[in-house]
Amino acid sequence: MEKDILENLEESRVMTTEENEEDSSFYALRPKTLSEYIGQSKIKERLAITIEAAKIRHEPLDHVLLAGPPGLGKTTLANVIANEMGFQIHTTSGPVIEKQGDLAAILTNLERGDVLFIDEIHRLSRVVEEVLYSAMEDFSLDIMIGKGPSARSIRIDLNRFTLIGATTRSGLLTSPLRNRFGIQLELNYYETEELENIIKRSASILEIGIDEKATKMAAMRSRGTPRVANRLLKRIRDFATVNRHEKIEESDALQALKTLEIDDHGLDSMDRKILKTIIKHYRGGPAGVKAIAAAVGVEPDTISEVYEPYLIQKGFLTRGSRGRQVTENAYQLLDIEYDVNEVNKLF
Ligand SMILES: Nc1ncnc2c1ncn2[C@@H]1O[C@H](COP(=O)(O)OP(=O)(O)OP(=O)(O)O)[C@@H](O)[C@H]1O
Ligand SMILES: [Mg+2]
Repeated sequence: MEKDILENLEESRVMTTEENEEDSSFYALRPKTLSEYIGQSKIKERLAITIEAAKIRHEPLDHVLLAGPPGLGKTTLANVIANEMGFQIHTTSGPVIEKQGDLAAILTNLERGDVLFIDEIHRLSRVVEEVLYSAMEDFSLDIMIGKGPSARSIRIDLNRFTLIGATTRSGLLTSPLRNRFGIQLELNYYETEELENIIKRSASILEIGIDEKATKMAAMRSRGTPRVANRLLKRIRDFATVNRHEKIEESDALQALKTLEIDDHGLDSMDRKILKTIIKHYRGGPAGVKAIAAAVGVEPDTISEVYEPYLIQKGFLTRGSRGRQVTENAYQLLDIEYDVNEVNKLF
């Protein structure tokens, strides 16, 4: 039984903040309304007012841009917004829309007020992005029909829709696109208390009890991310099941965290490997993200989108024009003397 859990752990690393198949079984955990959506209070306040005003005026909502690291609840929030407005949501993503025609097909199918959610909007191709400009601004499409001398442009009027774009990399968005969003929201990492509430809510939906200590322990090690909190809860629940505990206890949480090699800061082995690599190969930095990625064996985007933002937020890493640099805290964390000569001896 214990072995099963371990194998299961290997298959689904809790710390990957990317969405995976397991998350689909978490569908029930997704908040449907603003009041169920925990944390991000400033964002919720702004949205509540804007949504109410739009409803009173019987107008579709302004276009919304949601930015922030993976797993913080952008997709969830897009669905909440559509639900609160009482309109349909159509979901697609930047890399999927290859041609102008693909986008035109989607846009012409929207009813008045519908929400079009484009995930990873920073990955739209330039030609597609340009079609989006007039769609967002004038609710019309200018499409070229035919090729060569017989080519002509036709204009198609669209129903007034709301575009919700989500991005993990707001810095990669072009300014013409960004400027067309009336509402721009930046999601932040969650506070421990908010994560505790998310864990309690999820546990109650999963119909399992969890005591205060276990809740707090899981919350503090979820790297400020609801997706990680929910996954961690599931892994901890496995241990509680095997330990024949009716309610999840602190010991179950401890066991799970130990097996997953998650430390007190919520960092996992990959986080530590990244910091260690910068110390080992670059004497603490600066180091380029591509070089770090090659050394630890993950994609550069995964470093910049998943690992780095949290390491920066926790004060273990800084990002400058010349690359990434570890801080003195990182040396302390890894128990390495903050002395270049010592560092060289260690490796
Ligand atoms: N504010 C919240 N309150 C409660 N649960 C939340 C909240 N935000 C997110 N979650 C939970 O976390 C999970 C991940 O959220 P979501 O998929 O919306 O993240 P995301 O920002 O879209 O991530 P990605 O960038 O990878 O697409 C959801 O399944 C949901 O259950
Ligand atoms: Mg998402």
